Amino acid sequence: MSERTEALRKRADRCAEEIRKHREIHVVSHIDADGLTSAGIICTALERGGFEYTTRFVKQLDEAALDAIADENPELVIFTDLGSGMCEPIKSRGIRAVISDHHQPQGDLEFHLNPHLIGANGSYELSGSGSTYLLASALGKNRDLSALAIVGAVGDMQHLKMGQLVGINREILEEGVEGGNLQFKKDLTLFGKQTRPIFKLLQYSSDPYLPGLTGDEEACIEFLHTLNLRFSQEERWRRWIDLEPPEKQKIVSGLIQYCLKAGIPSYRIERLVGEVYILEKEREGTEMRDASEYSTLLNATARYDHAEIGLAVCMGDREEAYEDARKLLAEHRQNLVNGLVYVKEKGIIQLENIQYFDAGSNIKETIVGIIAGMSSTIVENRNLPIIAFANTDGGIKVSARGTQDLIRRGVNLSEAMSKVSAEVGGAGGGHDIAAGATIPEGTKEEFARKLDLFIGEQLQKKANSGKN
Ligand code: C5P
Ligand code: C5P
Ligand code: ZN
Repeated sequence: MSERTEALRKRADRCAEEIRKHREIHVVSHIDADGLTSAGIICTALERGGFEYTTRFVKQLDEAALDAIADENPELVIFTDLGSGMCEPIKSRGIRAVISDHHQPQGDLEFHLNPHLIGANGSYELSGSGSTYLLASALGKNRDLSALAIVGAVGDMQHLKMGQLVGINREILEEGVEGGNLQFKKDLTLFGKQTRPIFKLLQYSSDPYLPGLTGDEEACIEFLHTLNLRFSQEERWRRWIDLEPPEKQKIVSGLIQYCLKAGIPSYRIERLVGEVYILEKEREGTEMRDASEYSTLLNATARYDHAEIGLAVCMGDREEAYEDARKLLAEHRQNLVNGLVYVKEKGIIQLENIQYFDAGSNIKETIVGIIAGMSSTIVENRNLPIIAFANTDGGIKVSARGTQDLIRRGVNLSEAMSKVSAEVGGAGGGHDIAAGATIPEGTKEEFARKLDLFIGEQLQKKANSGKN
């Protein structure tokens, strides 16, 4: 165990000690895959420890959400995958709290678990589910929950930074492998290897975008035909997991050739193959077997007001809740496709240092961030952060997505969203590479202008510091 992990485990021990003083716990978590897996981890650990618990899922932990929680005067609240940005407001309301999070902290409080506090980066070295796994480990024997911790990290795309999970995430992965819960290997990175017909993997490939294949079912089928692949067996489409190793190799080589011919830069082509994470205890051919498919299944529940379904799946339901989740997943997929088509048709506005699109009410605000991230594959200029606006109750939701390259050049979207949204009367935060905010109606243009300047300053500052 590294020194940093040890420091974090000590914090986890103190948090666990605090939890043990109580019987009834209120768990508050975030409505995405990382938030759901975090809740799944802590609720399972609480159940095993004989605690009573209730849950609440929020889009974001703002003042109003905290007021509602404080009103109920819970004995103890465990905040997972959120809370770190609200330490002062939590304290000022007298809420007894343990925070297990990975977002950029603002302020501090006594029982607070967050990688940033020990000098680790919460955008790729530990997720909310990872923090919460450390907490669960301090509460009892919960090593099997490492699998959920990795699903949360992958849901937050923490494996993309280095092409594999690193830092404390890696230590958790290793625990999972030792316990027989997880496995990792190099494989095709395209989405859907467990559950989808092979041509769908190509058809929905967005990273890398495959010009001539992405979005075109017929072309994908034709491409596979030219490789002489058998498509179906026993009346059903073959999936990636049904293929023999030489067949997989044939597709990977064929795709690489195709991309080279299409002039796709090699750093993008390389992303076709990468580290993938398998949940060893899950049935093959189900979403839960693959960390990436699992996280999408969870997003399909919580981001549509059905966190209880995703939580039940995290806690082991493979019957009713799983069936419900799959129905939601089909709708979610369709919404993502429609959203991308919308962005493509509507176009993206470029300023000097950012680019943005306004989804209005055409894209649900809870998934507009995912679409902003996916739209990086359809924009002309990948060197500008992508900002998305969407209507929300009583305001405007903003989502921002950047790239590793931008971060190296000084961009920090968390700082930018937090500062600039405050200037127009809103609030925001998140991570350097992905952040969000809510701003008042009528401030969109002003916000975009100010954000453009602010990002310009971040870039300038870094460029200047490089000169010295
Ligand atoms: O609230 P939370 O921290 O869980 O959300 C992080 C968000 O950042 C996720 O929606 C994830 O998809 C996004 N992200 C991204 N690109 C990365 C890392 C994270 O879009 N490289
Ligand atoms: O909603 P979206 O996926 O764009 O969120 C990206 C990141 O920004 C998440 O980590 C989320 O928790 C954070 N965020 C925030 N404040 C908001 C909206 C999002 O800190 N008002
Ligand atoms: Zn998270």
